[in-house]
Amino acid sequence: MSTPSLSAEQEALFRLIEDTREHVFVTGRAGTGKSTLLQHLAWNTSKQIAVCAPTGVAALNVEGQTIHSLFRLPIGLIANGEIEQSDATRKLLNAIDTLVLDEVSMVNADLMDGIDRSLRQARGRRAEPFGGVQIVMFGDPYQLAPVPPRGDEMRYIRDHYRSFWFFDAKVWAGEGGDDGILDLGRHGADLNVRELTEIHRQSDPAFKALLNAVRYGRVTAEMAGILNGAGARTPPDPADGEHPIITLATRNDIVNTINRRHLDELVGRMQTANAEISGDFGRGEANYPADVELRLKVGAQVMFLRNDVSSFGEPPRWVNGTIGTVTRIAGDTVRVEVDGTEHDVEPAVWERFRYNYHPGTRTLSRDVVAEFTQFPLRLAWAVTIHKSQGKTYDRAVIDLGSGAFAPGQTYVALSRLTSLDGLYLSRPLRPSDIRVDPDVQRFMSTALRARS
Ligand SMILES: Nc1ncnc2c1ncn2[C@@H]1O[C@H](COP(=O)(O)OP(=O)(O)OP(=O)(O)O)[C@@H](O)[C@H]1O
Ligand SMILES: [Mg+2]
Repeated sequence: MSTPSLSAEQEALFRLIEDTREHVFVTGRAGTGKSTLLQHLAWNTSKQIAVCAPTGVAALNVEGQTIHSLFRLPIGLIANGEIEQSDATRKLLNAIDTLVLDEVSMVNADLMDGIDRSLRQARGRRAEPFGGVQIVMFGDPYQLAPVPPRGDEMRYIRDHYRSFWFFDAKVWAGEGGDDGILDLGRHGADLNVRELTEIHRQSDPAFKALLNAVRYGRVTAEMAGILNGAGARTPPDPADGEHPIITLATRNDIVNTINRRHLDELVGRMQTANAEISGDFGRGEANYPADVELRLKVGAQVMFLRNDVSSFGEPPRWVNGTIGTVTRIAGDTVRVEVDGTEHDVEPAVWERFRYNYHPGTRTLSRDVVAEFTQFPLRLAWAVTIHKSQGKTYDRAVIDLGSGAFAPGQTYVALSRLTSLDGLYLSRPLRPSDIRVDPDVQRFMSTALRARS
């Protein structure tokens, strides 16, 4: 996969990860190139690394494995329960030099400690954090949070942790330490928090400053006026030959309603493409990278879910996130118009990987255990803000509906845009849409102040 050449600060972090055994948390504002650096690392490291992520979709994005499947962890709280490990899992966890975690903001404290305990146990190095494995994490806690625990799980987390965030796990030095229940006889690990500072997604300094204010919850009335002024306009009508535009909405039901309404409005014949699934894709649809039944009509607005990999030296015809319009559906291809040019799109294969250990050569291989084949397209009159995480759009309608309900939600939505010219607001932003998690503020301000 082609990635831009690294900036000086990205290169410096690559060297830090490559040349030391420090635990590193690479963070930074939206669009500072965290994912780009992770991709570079995966291709260029000389270490034995395993790449994983908290959700199935995030794991597919980085061609890694989910944390739960790599470690064979049970679903739900791990707490202080016995961790069962087969011989194969133990061998595999022994072969890793460096564990790379993407989207770490979605990993909760209990899982972080579960990773620590699994590694100590598998490697027989119970006194050493992570059993001596280097941990490299990527993410931005000002964006997506872990799924909030409920009921007894929530009560457990509340009793044992300062917050549910990964940075409050007991494995880290400076936090909680032994509480009598999670008595692992440890001293904590040092975490080197490093921030990428240069934003590559946006170029206009004024827009970057506005995004920053939203990120930290410091939006003044004047700033709100600028955002609301820019966003208060009617989206262009695609029927007038305008480029299609996507709506980012807070909730799934809003997204599905918008997509269904637009699809129904089209006059053509509905056609359905069924995914081919082989092997074990984990539990259910939530782990699928695309629709099992993709329903399309000519005229449908779609988003690409993959980068174009067959442009052979030419610039890619589309990337993950590109919006287009279906112009023809025939057998094995769907024709999609992007910016006035038509492309024939063929089904893509998503591979689910699993790391395996080979005792003979003492190496890890990454093997395909399941495949999902479908057109790399989904209906895209609307997507959830959650699903837009990591993506880049030139233009979007932001629909906060009855209000942003999670910290960081409005920041994720606005920071997808490359410029203020692309902003359309379905209603003006309200102060209550800008929400910042106080635990994130506390951790990030201390971690980053310690460095500067
Ligand atoms: N060194 C670089 N030079 C040029 N462009 C870059 C560089 N690094 C990243 N980019 C581009 O900037 C955009 C944002 O990068 P990327 O998606 O890696 O950021 P991110 O920090 O992961 O953002 P988010 O927090 O939204 O997931 C992408 O289009 C990427 O190609
Ligand atoms: Mg990213």
